[in-house]
Amino acid sequence: MDMKHDGSTVAAAALVEFGVGLAGHVRRLAWDPRRRKSCQKARGRRNFRAKTGSLMGFYPDLPIITQRLTLRPFTRGDVDAVLDYRGREDVALYLFDTALSREECALAVQQRILQTSWSAEGDKIVLAAVLSESDTLIGELSLIWRSEDARQGEIGWIFHPDHHGRGYATEAASALLDLGFQGADLHRIFARCDARNASSWRLMERLGMRREAHFREHALFKGGWDEEFVYAVLRREWRTGG
Ligand SMILES: CC(C)(COP(=O)(O)OP(=O)(O)OC[C@H]1O[C@@H](n2cnc3c(N)ncnc32)[C@H](O)[C@@H]1OP(=O)(O)O)[C@@H](O)C(=O)NCCC(=O)NCCS
Repeated sequence: MDMKHDGSTVAAAALVEFGVGLAGHVRRLAWDPRRRKSCQKARGRRNFRAKTGSLMGFYPDLPIITQRLTLRPFTRGDVDAVLDYRGREDVALYLFDTALSREECALAVQQRILQTSWSAEGDKIVLAAVLSESDTLIGELSLIWRSEDARQGEIGWIFHPDHHGRGYATEAASALLDLGFQGADLHRIFARCDARNASSWRLMERLGMRREAHFREHALFKGGWDEEFVYAVLRREWRTGG
């Protein structure tokens, strides 16, 4: 998602109040982890596993509906809404990118339109977060398939500053963690951010992720040393606190 470290980040635990509704959510998915077999005939989608048990592909049913938000694939009409936040220096501060031009946003949206499923490691599901009430696009989230065998994913987020401080990122990230654990049957989801990006690592902590690493001056970032936090949550910890 063009975040820091190609970051995409997120994970979680105690946000049942957002009422994503696990059961309802799972019903939206073509893959049913409890049955461990594909529902593809019914849904016309394919989520399938190798004999080793590793996930070979993941094609979620979209959009995802939460209490206040709709998480949906990007469309061509989203370019100006994306420019509204990706065009800002304050939003880009801890992202790999600098503020994007309209042309760069158009290219980003074009890429995101296709990023709705996984068929190989490294694939990303990138969704627009839209206020359901007003149909306003307020940000984006990504879930990257990092390891097929070890069932690892990485989550990330970028929201428009006009919509910070209301719990929208927490609500959306929580739903994406549900998707990763209950839909794609991931074992662990991690997130990374610059150690100075307090809004991002506080979000990780709100979601119930644990700080697993603090890498000091391990890379260069925008002309200076990089300080990176890594947070993660395991499937068995998600929403159980255990
Ligand atoms: C990271 C980012 C998404 C966090 O946004 P955020 O607004 O802090 O997160 P939320 O939307 O979950 O809102 C949480 C805040 O709303 C408050 N809040 C209000 N209503 C709430 C609710 N119903 N539920 C949860 N929190 C609520 C929380 O108390 C918290 O406030 P606080 O920051 O004063 O403690 C945002 O800062 C961002 O997009 N930054 C720029 C891009 C970026 O750096 N991305 C990360 C790259 S690694």
